Amino acid sequence: MLVIVKESYDAMSKEAAKIVADRLRKKPNLVLGLATGSTPLGLYKELIRMHKEEGLDFSKVTTFNLDEYIGLPPEHDQSYHFFMWENLFKHINIDARFVHVPMGMAKDVDAFCDWYETRMKECGGVDLQILGIGANGHIAFNEPGSSLGSRTRIKTLTGTTRLDNARFFKTAEEVPKYAITMGVGTIMDAKELILLANKASKADAIKAAVEGPITAMCPASIIQLHQKAYAIVDKDASAKLTGLYNDSWESKTF
Ligand code: F6R
Repeated sequence: MLVIVKESYDAMSKEAAKIVADRLRKKPNLVLGLATGSTPLGLYKELIRMHKEEGLDFSKVTTFNLDEYIGLPPEHDQSYHFFMWENLFKHINIDARFVHVPMGMAKDVDAFCDWYETRMKECGGVDLQILGIGANGHIAFNEPGSSLGSRTRIKTLTGTTRLDNARFFKTAEEVPKYAITMGVGTIMDAKELILLANKASKADAIKAAVEGPITAMCPASIIQLHQKAYAIVDKDASAKLTGLYNDSWESKTF
């Protein structure tokens, strides 16, 4: 894993955007795995800027999002569909036919999950997956205890995650109880991973993911086994790390 520590959230976001843009310029039909949440917002803002000011072209890009709440229609303002269109897709020249976000309203969730896995394979697999991390070490909706070999499936959200996300809903009861999520094994199949984290509230999770034992109790720790994973973090999120780390992605080996 290549751990890159940046001074600020802004610098972290720009570093990640440089990698995405580099891969996209080398492969215009890149298959990009995307995350929601507050962490990747700076990255998406920078990609939008690169599209508008530098002509970064997304017309041939295919995307797969990590997860979606079950029971929220795409037009619900807390659905991950809505989030992605508001914060990235509507600002770039992406072809809507190439966008994949799990269908929270799928009638047969298991069949949908199988289809999602098949579709990723048909598209040649995810080239580069963006990840955030939960304070408890979750990636996507794979909470502590999730199987490290898991595939796309339905998951019950933990009480903590529902409470964390309650700030976005009118009442805590409105937070969905279930989600569709790529599995840990699905995420590990991506050819490259970028795990992003900022703020002191993520310092314990980053310590566990980067320097802790590989354990299902911190699903993010599995990325230590990935051949090409970047963890790009700001100073606050890096506060508990003890190793010596990099300050840039260029010309560094894993
Ligand atoms: C979102 C996702 C989640 C978030 C994580 C961190 O698609 O998969 O695992 O990445 O909960 O969320 P933020 O970035 O809001 O701290």
